[in-house]
Amino acid sequence: MRSIKDELNLSEKKILLRLDLNVPLDKGKITDSTRIDKIIPTISFLLKNKAKIIILSHIGRPKGKIIDSLSLKPVCEDLKNKLNENIKLITKNLKEIDSADLFNNQGVRIIMLENLRFYDEEEKNDDEFAKHLASLADIYVNDAFSCSHRAHASIFEITKFLPSYAGLQLNLEIDALTKITSEIKKPITCIIGGSKISTKINIIKNLIPKFDNIIIVGGMANNVLKYKGYNIGKSIQEDNCDKIIEEIFLLSKKENCKIVYPEDVTVGKNLNGSPEVKELNDVSEDELILDIGPKSIKNINNIIEESNTILWNGPAGYFENPSFAKGSLEIMKKIIEKSIANNIYSVAGGGDTVALLNSVDAVNNFDFVSTAGGAFLEYLEGKELPGIKALN
Ligand code: 3PG
Repeated sequence: MRSIKDELNLSEKKILLRLDLNVPLDKGKITDSTRIDKIIPTISFLLKNKAKIIILSHIGRPKGKIIDSLSLKPVCEDLKNKLNENIKLITKNLKEIDSADLFNNQGVRIIMLENLRFYDEEEKNDDEFAKHLASLADIYVNDAFSCSHRAHASIFEITKFLPSYAGLQLNLEIDALTKITSEIKKPITCIIGGSKISTKINIIKNLIPKFDNIIIVGGMANNVLKYKGYNIGKSIQEDNCDKIIEEIFLLSKKENCKIVYPEDVTVGKNLNGSPEVKELNDVSEDELILDIGPKSIKNINNIIEESNTILWNGPAGYFENPSFAKGSLEIMKKIIEKSIANNIYSVAGGGDTVALLNSVDAVNNFDFVSTAGGAFLEYLEGKELPGIKALN
């Protein structure tokens, strides 16, 4: 994969820069700007090398219709302030823009095109649409790893029409994922949570042959406890999962990977109830399992201590209520302690895990935190992402 950081001659070149500026909005206000903050180094790098930038992104899922509340305007304003740079947002019909329409204002070095998904052709990976976008620039850069699981025109088809490069963030993301999937420093452990085991089964199956330990926590561990014959009371669970769990245990035995699940739990009578630590045999019918217990924390921390690489996806419990956040926070503290001492390579990803790290301002204490949702999970499942394939 060619990286833009190795391209020496960028001066006066027009760069189509595909970013993922799909940030959450509430009544036109950005509620989490992590994705914007992350791509500042790429833009600064391009400006320093005297390139002209045409930013491409989608936001939300307007499905080919112009929806005012899904305009990139608030994102453009935020980026302007952060870069202290004038950015021209072009709202004219994309299909009617000519390259002569761009950069005709003195001093404008960055242009942003309005939400790509206002046009049907984007998600259809339309050849003409991609060709037209390509006609606006000299070089294409994909710095949107988190969109690279989508075979869309601005991610996939466009690479057929321009010299195409990976952006700085995409490089960092691939480097981190390579360290946990191929160039692994063992022992390697995955801590995986989330409410539904069926949505993570392909990840677990793909990781078992490479990993030494897979620690199942969160709501999906309830299904494992039930499979092992424990009463899980009113806890969340998924129906018909025994076959999936059986497959996990059989494969892990064959591949010599240890599957770890909670040894004790913290329960409540409801989501706002008070926490009580219970042995696995003592959970009653009217209780919900909302966190792991102290014995489990100790066991997991011992495994982290023995590991050289760690992947964390999914909190250990209902961390939104501080009474049930202890398991997740203790795991986090242990990983950070080892990361700071340079004794572990740590990667975290997934919406809830990133929200947890953000809530205690710990994102920068991990070696890498992925803000990609679907793309991160599909990569871990071992799938080839169309956007990466196109760059290769
Ligand atoms: C994301 O938020 O994961 C990316 O922006 C992709 O968005 P999508 O799931 O709507 O394709």
